[in-house]
Amino acid sequence: MPKNTTEHSNTTPSTDKPWGGRFSESTDAFVEEFTASINFDKRLYKHDIQGSRAHARMLAKAGILPAEDVEKIINGLDEIETDIEAGKIEWSVSLEDIHMNIEARLTDRIGIAGKKLHTGRSRNDQIATDIRLWLREQIDGICHEIRRLQGALIELADREADTILPGFTHLQVAQPITFGHHMLAWFEMLQRDFERMQDCRKRVNVMPLGAAALAGTTYPIDRNHSAELLGFDHPARNSLDAVSDRDFAIEFNASASIVMMHLSRFSEELVIWTSAQFDFVRLPDRFCTGSSIMPQKKNPDVPELVRGKSGRVFGNLLSLLTLMKGQPLAYNKDNQEDKEPLFDTVDTLLGSLRAFADMMPHVQPKADKMRQAAMQGFSTATDLADYLVVKGLPFRDAHEVVGSAVALGVESGRDLSEMSLEELQQFSAIIEADVFEVLTLEGSVSARNHLGGTAPEQVRLQASYARELIATA
Ligand code: ARG
Repeated sequence: MPKNTTEHSNTTPSTDKPWGGRFSESTDAFVEEFTASINFDKRLYKHDIQGSRAHARMLAKAGILPAEDVEKIINGLDEIETDIEAGKIEWSVSLEDIHMNIEARLTDRIGIAGKKLHTGRSRNDQIATDIRLWLREQIDGICHEIRRLQGALIELADREADTILPGFTHLQVAQPITFGHHMLAWFEMLQRDFERMQDCRKRVNVMPLGAAALAGTTYPIDRNHSAELLGFDHPARNSLDAVSDRDFAIEFNASASIVMMHLSRFSEELVIWTSAQFDFVRLPDRFCTGSSIMPQKKNPDVPELVRGKSGRVFGNLLSLLTLMKGQPLAYNKDNQEDKEPLFDTVDTLLGSLRAFADMMPHVQPKADKMRQAAMQGFSTATDLADYLVVKGLPFRDAHEVVGSAVALGVESGRDLSEMSLEELQQFSAIIEADVFEVLTLEGSVSARNHLGGTAPEQVRLQASYARELIATA
């Protein structure tokens, strides 16, 4: 026998459990700790009380409980809520979870009426309702932060619509682009995130309450009334599914994972852009930290941490999927394990979005450094090829001509725009003096003036559409 078995075998009287009736011995002290969820589900107190109020009101309306009892219940719940907020409630592990803690307090306060609150309900539909109420509110907060960050990106895009930097493919200089265009790419990613959150919210906003333990209840409950009181779109249609479904949490976590993946990509770019080798942007000091040993360091901690934190959100998604995969219908205690990953995902996502939304308005692009970088790597080579095509050369041949010109540039350490007309003409006689208009960075970006292109004019147009979009939805 392991030594600690005896340490955990001290018992508490079975009578203090609301479900203690059929038990002949009290719960092992360690098992009590092990199975309790109060240490984390206390976070749901507000939504648990909100659900209980609606349930009690519905019981009165349906004539299941007398109005006087329900009035006492509502007043008692109000007082408990105030006390919790004032930090006056001590949670009890022996009362297992938030539901039984609140119910026990209620009965302490209002007596027998408190014992009637649980009529026609089970903790199984209660917890499923609580998490949905809670998550619905969190999604609204997350969408607000996404919008705040999108707003910052739009402002930056508009301000820096003409600022040029090299665009990359394979992290090799590809073509010049505008900084505003780059910011609006991030905006688009966040717009899809926003829409995914809104879509997920529809499936969160369905009410399990009334499913009771698993099969429904014998009382003549009015589920439409509770749904209306709680702002749910409608009651869940199948009681077995209602108590056991956690798809909404998985779906939320999947959407959250995509947001974090996006933020992680933004982070990676900021980390690269703030390195001495790139030096494209300046992050405000208050979003960075130094090194305890290297006095010169200014580290991009916020982006790095956000990039790192994406891992825990992806991990939570896998936890939730694994949690559900082996569960037969209907409720199983396994489901208690949904809360910590879900809470962690919400906290991590909200924190990361907030940090980005606070930081982005203060990011300063270094236009001269970006311009210098765009001048290297022959970023206007495609423009020269397009120029030759317009003059009648087939694209493949034009590609070949420009390739040779680039080879000379590499050899002599010069950009195409730094070569003389005669030099360029040795690769193709159709090149004329007007070539220099397309070889400039400004010429290159402003030529891409169509829907979705990088031209400053398009960036301004897209920024104004984006502004409208986030103002209306
Ligand atoms: N603490 C439980 C949970 O988080 C509440 C429901 C408990 N239901 C039960 N039959 N033990 O899921």
